[in-house]
Amino acid sequence: MKIYLYIILASMLLFAPSAFGQNNITINADQELSNINHHIYGHFAEHLGTGIYEGVWVGEDSEIPNTEGFRTDVLEALKQLEIPNIRWPGGCFADEYFWMDGIGPREDRPKRINTHWGMVIEDNSFGTHEFLRLTELLDAEPVVAMNVGSGTPRELQQWIEYMNYDGDSDMANLRRENGREDPWGVKYVGVGNESWGCGGNMRPEYYADLYRRFATYTRNYSGNEIFRVASGYDSDRYWWTDTMMERAGDMMEGLSLHYYTIAGPNWQEKGSSIDFREDEYFSGLKTALRLDEIITGHSNRMDRHDPEKRVAMVVDEWGIWTDPLPGTEPGFLQQQNSMRDALIASLSLDILNRHSDRVRMANIAQMVNVLQAMILTDGEQMLKTPTYHIFDMYRVHFDTKLLQTHINVADYEYDGDSIPTISLTASKNDNGQLNITMTNLNAQEAQVADITIRGQDVRRAHSGRLLTAEEVNAINTFENPDNITIRDFDQFSLDGNHLSMTLPAKSVVVLTLE
Ligand code: AHR
Repeated sequence: MKIYLYIILASMLLFAPSAFGQNNITINADQELSNINHHIYGHFAEHLGTGIYEGVWVGEDSEIPNTEGFRTDVLEALKQLEIPNIRWPGGCFADEYFWMDGIGPREDRPKRINTHWGMVIEDNSFGTHEFLRLTELLDAEPVVAMNVGSGTPRELQQWIEYMNYDGDSDMANLRRENGREDPWGVKYVGVGNESWGCGGNMRPEYYADLYRRFATYTRNYSGNEIFRVASGYDSDRYWWTDTMMERAGDMMEGLSLHYYTIAGPNWQEKGSSIDFREDEYFSGLKTALRLDEIITGHSNRMDRHDPEKRVAMVVDEWGIWTDPLPGTEPGFLQQQNSMRDALIASLSLDILNRHSDRVRMANIAQMVNVLQAMILTDGEQMLKTPTYHIFDMYRVHFDTKLLQTHINVADYEYDGDSIPTISLTASKNDNGQLNITMTNLNAQEAQVADITIRGQDVRRAHSGRLLTAEEVNAINTFENPDNITIRDFDQFSLDGNHLSMTLPAKSVVVLTLE
């Protein structure tokens, strides 16, 4: 009797995924769930620290090589990401920004104090024309966050008229005087940012009414249809979503959500971006995985009021937020970007993709030099972060169909706690190609993934791309900017519709099948 028990226990252990790092995945290629909108891969550029000044804009007279005042190296690097949209000018900055400060001859523009971010002087040399030129150079859609906290509906109305009207009005003519004949046709506008906090400290009932008032004046000029994004809450304050949907849902096209990952114990001790070990690696990943629960919670509230999912969820700030780098101005939110952060990006993007029936736009915070940035600069120097490479690898999912997957994967266990080792997105593009991005979160062990593709014959796999590093806290530096970079990946075999791959510890892989 005893011997049978041992045999049963042994075979249970043998087939239990957690014991041997065995991971079984089925991709149903004929089960298309939702469209993965390319706007999920959007970015955010706030007037914060060196996010704009120095990071993107240096002015035409700078010694740093530039194109019309924009850093050429940064432009070239960003072009490769095919950035779908950029949100600007904040963030908290947006609710203290008066757009007329940032138009006209630069030498005449007023100097203001950036009260949120280091009390530095904002000279307004980067304003509406500069931002919209940047989006043109990058072929990205602008997302303009309007000032509700300290602005007026009239300012909002005139800003939109200035940007979008092609007729003979004072605002359109002012735009022409400032050198721009054609309207830009800005579609996406935010109507308030964190209106429960830095955007006015409002209650949802009050903000819902104020939102309705401001949203009334977001006019559709010259055939351009505005898409309005209302301010949502961060993390799990679901009642805000309920109130906004109930009271103002009919006047919005999108409702935002912010979610920042903190690897340390709390907001006062967020943890270092360089000096951490497996404990804050694990806690960072675990906290990032909560995005799934948070989106589900807000989605459920939105479903109550909008079962057709007309209103998009717009996750317009997400990413890891660490303690500022030692020796930097705390208000500049400067942090390094490690292999851990690349994995936080890939698993967050997987979550956003999985919710793409409701999440149709998102913006990582932020694009350059601030928080989880794509690019870091120092004077003339520039580097691409590991997170940049994730955004490069994930481009395969732009405007594709999310495929249904079933996963039975091992646990990554640490200090008595565990998370699923593997995160993935499988999608199908218009040419019928299947793209798989797969992340192994385990810091120590490689994982074998056995993948069965159902519903479509697979003939070949293109050679893959891999991002990994020796250590979880490995970073790119100006001395060694390609320490973490994309490499070819060939640790896979395809046998009919069965794909087997070996994912190195702490790695992300992208593979195309057809
Ligand atoms: O991204 C930094 C800040 O985080 C934004 O300005 C604000 O919206 C959020 O609190």
